[in-house]
Amino acid sequence: MSADLILYNIGELFCPIDNNEPLRGQAMNTAKIMHNAYIAIKAGKIQAIGEGEVPESLISNETQKRDLSGLTVTPGLIDSHTHLVHGGSRENEFSMKLNGVSYLDILAAGGGILSTVNATKTSTFDELYTKAKKSLDTMLIHGTTTVEAKSGYGLEWETEEKQLKVAKKLNEDHPVEVVSTFMGAHAIPTQLKENPEEFIKELTEFMIPEVSKHSLAEFCDVFCEHGVFSVEQTRRILQCAKENNLKIKIHADEIVSLGGAELAAEMGAHSAEHLMAASDEGISLMAKNNVIANLLPGTTFSLMKTSYADARKMIENNLAVALSTDYNPGSCPTENIQLIMQLGSLAMKMSPIEVFNAVTINGAHSLGRGHETGSFEVGKNADIVVFDAPNIDYILYHFGVNHVKEVYKNGNLVVQDRRVI
Ligand code: NIG
Ligand code: FE
Repeated sequence: MSADLILYNIGELFCPIDNNEPLRGQAMNTAKIMHNAYIAIKAGKIQAIGEGEVPESLISNETQKRDLSGLTVTPGLIDSHTHLVHGGSRENEFSMKLNGVSYLDILAAGGGILSTVNATKTSTFDELYTKAKKSLDTMLIHGTTTVEAKSGYGLEWETEEKQLKVAKKLNEDHPVEVVSTFMGAHAIPTQLKENPEEFIKELTEFMIPEVSKHSLAEFCDVFCEHGVFSVEQTRRILQCAKENNLKIKIHADEIVSLGGAELAAEMGAHSAEHLMAASDEGISLMAKNNVIANLLPGTTFSLMKTSYADARKMIENNLAVALSTDYNPGSCPTENIQLIMQLGSLAMKMSPIEVFNAVTINGAHSLGRGHETGSFEVGKNADIVVFDAPNIDYILYHFGVNHVKEVYKNGNLVVQDRRVI
């Protein structure tokens, strides 16, 4: 059967190896790299890929053809950890941070996440939608075709539900696929500061069952951190999430080494995020229990720290690593996944192949989307990024600019010459 669209003469085509599971350890540094390649697309899915001449059988009078000589093509990028939907911004904290006030001290003083909670509460559905849509457009022009969106700027039901419903509507309206995570356990609300148990009760007895009942999220995440939720509190919240059929993630050992990585392993979490302060024991337990390590070097950079997560040690210990922006108004205000990929190499010493696997096949598995996107297997969604670059190394080495020329989502051209169309 002939194709709807054929991308051909592709200078370099990056194909992750797809064995229906995330790539772990040494396998993260493997990929099939083709030259003078083609991709055929039929009904929004990958129909065929190969090197050299496009087979005649794929071409008819109706087939559209695009010559991509000198360009690099990869699967659509997956940003598997963001706090997409929120009100306001926090540049008012910037001078304080530059003067050495820590992220956790700003939070303890009622700022940080809690100030975004106020801004999100007072924003209407439409205001949140418009702001998040603008961010999704920015993500898309940087090559992101699937994104995770966490709630967690409500800390009470009405606002949490509003955030989740905005994410749901954006998933329906916008070319980028939006996967929702409920993160009501993002901070202790100010009015319950002295009584966190009451908030945990609200989360476990009402909010989590409600999220599950109305299918408002697929995952549940908790900020397990010094001064936020302890390991024991996180365990109880996530146990409830599991009982309500939500898959679990943990903001683990982001700032203080608390045992979040160990908890992720114990609970069989889908992924553990950040891990800047993860212990050696935590890393090896995560590997034994197939927990994906989702690393967010933009946060380390923006918090002006030097303690990047030890990606090399994690890969040596046979972990599967994903990379994401953590886009949020406090610890990482950027939608640009290419910058995060460049930090993956420049700050965490990941090879270009490891970096591209981390934001394609492993990112897809980190969101439970490994069966439909993240690689060029026949039958998967035709989510494709065309970079104005001769090879994948160039994209990471030439940092700080947007290399994306075109983006296809489900076979449709959605970005051309760095504009959403
Ligand atoms: O992943 N650590 C918790 N949540 C975000 C920050 C959210 C915020 O500061 O608004 C993070 O770093
Ligand atoms: Fe985060």
